[in-house]
Amino acid sequence: MSQPLITLDFLDTATIPTPSVEATTHEQTPSGEVRVSPATETGRKRKLYIESYGCQMNFSDSEIVSSILFEQGFDTTEQLEDADLVLLNTCSIREKAEQTVRMRLSQINSHKKRNPGLLVGVLGCMAERLKSKFLEEEKLVDLVVGPDAYRDLPQLIQQVDSGQKAVNVLLSREETYADITPVRLNSNGITAFISIMRGCDNMCSFCVVPFTRGRERSRDAHSIVQEARDLVAQGYKEVTLLGQNVDSYKWASEDGLEQVNFAQLLESVALVSPELRVRFSTSHPKDITDEVLHTMARYDNICKYIHLPAQSGNSRVLKLMNRTYDRPWYEERVQAIRRILGPGCAISTDMIAGFCSETEEEHQDTLSLIDWVQYDMAYMFFYSERPGTLAARKLEDDIPLDVKKRRLQEIIDLQQKSSAARNQLAVGKVHQVLVENFSKRSAEHLSGRNSQNQVVIFPKKHYKKGDYVNVFVHTGTGGSLLGDAVE
Ligand code: SAH
Ligand code: SF4
Ligand code: F3S
Repeated sequence: MSQPLITLDFLDTATIPTPSVEATTHEQTPSGEVRVSPATETGRKRKLYIESYGCQMNFSDSEIVSSILFEQGFDTTEQLEDADLVLLNTCSIREKAEQTVRMRLSQINSHKKRNPGLLVGVLGCMAERLKSKFLEEEKLVDLVVGPDAYRDLPQLIQQVDSGQKAVNVLLSREETYADITPVRLNSNGITAFISIMRGCDNMCSFCVVPFTRGRERSRDAHSIVQEARDLVAQGYKEVTLLGQNVDSYKWASEDGLEQVNFAQLLESVALVSPELRVRFSTSHPKDITDEVLHTMARYDNICKYIHLPAQSGNSRVLKLMNRTYDRPWYEERVQAIRRILGPGCAISTDMIAGFCSETEEEHQDTLSLIDWVQYDMAYMFFYSERPGTLAARKLEDDIPLDVKKRRLQEIIDLQQKSSAARNQLAVGKVHQVLVENFSKRSAEHLSGRNSQNQVVIFPKKHYKKGDYVNVFVHTGTGGSLLGDAVE
């Protein structure tokens, strides 16, 4: 039900978290969550078990993969034991993420020993980063497929069926899977994700994504709007437009007569239905424009919530990170949000502690930025060097692990205060809540979100999933708000 308020990357233990089929992550940022796609029981011959790691982009891609394999006679299963084909859709963002997948592969290896016919494939960012090296390193893996090669899966599986190993990690400048309707396996039937672009051209020095996801490309605006329409027709009430850097969305028709930027796309999706809430993630501080903010202000159904990752509060560190903005620029963008959307618009961030050569004073600047912005929510990590990135090639990973962890803890402690303060501001007010599910605490309570993305829980009375309910919030707890429906 509730999205984790904070992400304690270093607390990820050696155990694999219980897979969750509930949609809990509403961000592009990876939350350490693992998802198993739930079963489709349509009587197809072969069974696919697919487990997804990393960010929402991967969770969405798994729905595209399921859709492609559904056409090839595969049903999904939630039971590894029942599977003919196991796919792990992997993440490379930090070393920990890769270690988790390696551990999972060794568990699957012992399962395969008992079931020699089982096929095992690795998809996603780790597949792209390690390419055919994976086949040498992990002998049990039959199939390695990068994020732009999923259309090739049927043919690659045939190859594996005939006893060979198969690899396709070609990145594309065009692939957006625009014409493939995802099988919405992880959905609660109320909220859905629409991928609007792929790849990233930004080359932040710490980040592996440009290498694993390739060049940035925007999906056909018409296919995005059509997908939103289809979702409304199926009863969905909220869409989140997804991309690594949505504000640089840019699409032109082939004849060049039609050109659509992100603000225009946002408006077109908002116009699909006033009953459809629209969210988006992630915004890059260098690209978010006043035009986008004004569009948000014009439409009640565009949620007043912006994920605006700062990464650091210090201008020298931001320069080393190649974020291409400095602290005054970031602060000006926050002021623009407050000016155009008012103090009630929620802002969240990602922060990295202990980047190369970061001094104590520079770390203090990150703390002072958190204090100044008063973020509603944050994903916080300590720096993890990734092979091949600019930072790995040019900078020294010189902050000792214990210092990184201590700085991260200071960031988390301060952010917790900020989140609590923002939650308190919501108390005593009426919020429009879109009901997503029963509360995990009791079947007598419903759980949903307000426009600011805060989780609100209230006694269900006659309300149900998918309703918009006005809720008076009387209590703010750590992660959620408690209230009562008002007629
Ligand atoms: N496109 C998004 C970020 C996607 S990656 C953006 O630009 O904001 C999600 C987050 O993971 C990043 O915002 C960053 O905080 C974190 N991250 C990425 N690479 C990392 C690394 N090498 N070490 C630690 N955290 C990292
Ligand atoms: Fe990575 Fe930067 Fe691109 Fe985000 S904008 S995905 S942090 S390179
Ligand atoms: Fe996402 Fe992880 Fe790849 S965060 S883009 S799955 S490296």
